[in-house]
Amino acid sequence: MDTNLSIDERVEDLLSRMTDEEKVGQMLQVSYNMLSPEDYEKYQNLGIGSFLHVLGEDTEKIRQKAANTRLSIPPLFGIDAIHGHCLLNGATVFPSQLAMSSSFNRELIYEMGKATALEVAADGLDWTFSPVLCLARDLRWGRVNETFGEDSYLAGELGKAIIEGYEYDNNIIACAKHYLAYGEATGGRDAYDSEVTERKIREVFLPPFKKAADSGCGSVMTAYGSIDSQPITASKRLLREILKEEIGFDGFIVTDWENVRSLMTNQHVTDNLTDASKLAVEAGNDMSMNTHEFYECMLSLIRDSKIDINFINDAVRRILRVKFKLGLFDNKQRPDRSVIACKEHKELNHKLARESLVLLKNNGTLPLKGDIKKIAVIGPNADDVRAQYGDWTFFSHPVPKENVTPKTDYYTVLRGMNEIFGKDNIVYNKGCDIFGEENYIDKAVSIAKDSDAIVCVIGDCLAQNGEYRDRANLELSGYQKELIEKLVNTKKPVIAVLVNCKPLCISYLKDKCSAIIEMFNGGDFGGLAVAELIKGMFNPSGKLSISFPQHSAQTPCYYNQYTGWHGGQYVDLNKGNVYTFGDGLSYSEFKYSNLRLSKTTASADDIIKISVDVTNNGDMDGKETVMLFVNDVVSSILTPTKELKGFEKVFIKAGDTKTVTIKLPIKELSIVTPDLKYVVESGEFEIMVGRNTHEYLSKILTVK
Ligand code: BGC
Repeated sequence: MDTNLSIDERVEDLLSRMTDEEKVGQMLQVSYNMLSPEDYEKYQNLGIGSFLHVLGEDTEKIRQKAANTRLSIPPLFGIDAIHGHCLLNGATVFPSQLAMSSSFNRELIYEMGKATALEVAADGLDWTFSPVLCLARDLRWGRVNETFGEDSYLAGELGKAIIEGYEYDNNIIACAKHYLAYGEATGGRDAYDSEVTERKIREVFLPPFKKAADSGCGSVMTAYGSIDSQPITASKRLLREILKEEIGFDGFIVTDWENVRSLMTNQHVTDNLTDASKLAVEAGNDMSMNTHEFYECMLSLIRDSKIDINFINDAVRRILRVKFKLGLFDNKQRPDRSVIACKEHKELNHKLARESLVLLKNNGTLPLKGDIKKIAVIGPNADDVRAQYGDWTFFSHPVPKENVTPKTDYYTVLRGMNEIFGKDNIVYNKGCDIFGEENYIDKAVSIAKDSDAIVCVIGDCLAQNGEYRDRANLELSGYQKELIEKLVNTKKPVIAVLVNCKPLCISYLKDKCSAIIEMFNGGDFGGLAVAELIKGMFNPSGKLSISFPQHSAQTPCYYNQYTGWHGGQYVDLNKGNVYTFGDGLSYSEFKYSNLRLSKTTASADDIIKISVDVTNNGDMDGKETVMLFVNDVVSSILTPTKELKGFEKVFIKAGDTKTVTIKLPIKELSIVTPDLKYVVESGEFEIMVGRNTHEYLSKILTVK
C-alpha cells in the first residue's frame, strides 16, 4: 500500500478491496479471556477488528496471525486502563478518576494520561476504555469511583485533559464512556433506565462528550442503559444523529459488553440476535463488544439485503481510520517496556496522589506538632492495598483474583506513617473489618490510649463498589462507627482518613474528629501522601468534585440543584450537605479581593476575562483552585443558582498575591430551551469567583 497517500485515501483503497466477511470482521471485538481455544483460533483466522483484555506478549501472537490473513489488517487491542494500566500487575496504579478529579489539575491529569498511554503502548496495546464521562450525581450507583465527580463542566475539562494525554503522539486512543447518562439511572442502579429528557441530556450529560469529540477522542462507548425507555444501543437519535452528525464525532462507537445481546435478553426490544445486530448498527454502533454471533448475523443481513451497506462501510471506515492514525499498518514503533512503572511515572503518581487528597476538616491539629511522639494507626483500610487501589486493577479484572500481591512499590497509610514518622513511633491495629462480626476494637482502643494522636483509616471496600454493586446504605459499614466513636472517647486527637470509592455519611466524623482527610482510591502513593500531609511536608490543595450527604436518603445532593420553593429541606434532616463540591482546606488561608470583569456588558459572541487577586496569607507556599460559578438571574427555564463555568489552579508563595484570570465565553451561558435550541438569554448574570460554593466574591454581568 502506498504510504504517501493520506489516511482517508488509504482507508478508501483498503475498503474497496475488502469482502463483506472482512468488513464485518472489523466490526467485532472479542474478549480474550472468554474464548475457548477453538474460538480463539477461529477469531484469529477471521481477522477480527479488535480484542479486549489481552496483555503483553499475547498481543504479538495475535498480531502475527492477523498479518497472515488476506489483507493483513492489524487488530486493535483494547484494555480498561482507567487509572493507569492497572490490569497489568506491575504497571503504575494512579489515583482513581474520582480521586484525581479533586486535584482540579488539568496539567497533571494530562501528564497522567500520557504516562498511562506509554505503559499501555509498551505492553503492546492500542486503546484504553477511558475516560468515564458519566456524572456521579446519584451516590448509590456502584461506579461513582470511576467518574470525575458530579459536575458536567469539570468532567468535560478533565476528560479533555486526559484524552489529550492518552492520544499524545498517537500512542493509543481514548474511549469516552459510557454514552449517555449512565450514572443517572433511576434509583442509582447500575445498567437501568435513566428518566431524562433530551433537553436535560443536552444541558447536563452531553457537554463532556462534546468536549471529548472536539478534542479528537478516537472512540466512544455506548452505555448499558436506556434513556426514557429506549435502549441507548438502539438509539439512532443519540448515536447517529446527535453524536456523529450534529457533533461531528469522527472516531468510532463501540458497544459496551454484550450490549447487542442485551437488546434481546435484558431489554427485550427484539427476540432474536439478527434484529438486535441490525438495530445496533443502524443506530450508529460501529463495533460490537462481544456478542460473537454479531458476525454471522450481520453477514446474513447483508446477504438478504436487509441492511444498508453504507452503514457497514461507514463503520469500517471509522475503525480503519483509527488504525491508520495509530500507525498500526506502518510497523508502529512502541515505547520500550522499561517505561512501565518507571521513575518518572512514579514521581508523577506521587505528585498526583498529593494533589488528590482533600483536607475536609482541621481544628488545628494538622500538621502534627513536635509534642506528638507516638501515633496509633488504626482501621480496616490502614493497610489494605485492595481498598486503596479501588476498582479496575488486576485484583478485580478481568477476573477477580485472591492470592496476588502488587509487583510495584506501593504505600498504604500504615507504610507511609512508618516511613515518615519512623516505625518506632507508630503502633497499629486494624480495629475491625469493613464488614463482619469480628472486631478488635478493645485492643485498638488500648493502644490508642497510650498514644498522642490517632490516625483512623476507614471507608469501604471493593465488594461495595463497581458494576452490580450499588448501595442503598451509605453509612460506614460493619463496626467502623463503633470503632471511631470509641477512639474519639479516648479524648486523643483523632485524624480520620477516608479510603473509599464514594462519599459516605460522615456527619459524626465532622462533629467529633480533629481532622478529616479524604483520599478516595489513592493508587500506589496514596498512603505516603497522607503521611506527608499529616506531617506538613506539603500544603494540601485538593477540593471535592462531589458532595457528601448527611443521610443515605439525602442523595442526590449535588451542589447545582434548584433551590426548591418549599424550602428544599427534609423535616428530619438539617439543611445542606455535610460537605459540598468545592470544599477542601489548605494549611494556608487564601484571601480573594478585587474581582473585576473585562466588560460588565457583553454580547453572546464575546469572551470576557474575569480577574481576581488571591493572597496566600499563610506561612506555607501552596496551590489554590480558583472557581468561577455563574447564576443566570432570570431565565425562561429553571437554572441552578450556581454552576461551575471555569477554574484555574495556581501556585502562590506564602505572603504573595497573584492575579488569576479566567476566560468566560458568553456562549457558555446558554440554556437549552424546551424546543432544544441553545440560547444565551439577555439579562443579568451573577459572576461568583472564590474558593468554593460558599466563599466567593461576586459581580453582575449584563448580557445584551
Ligand atoms: C464496563 C465497561 C468496560 C467493559 C470492558 C464493561 O463491563 O461497563 O466500562 O470498559 O466492560 O471491560
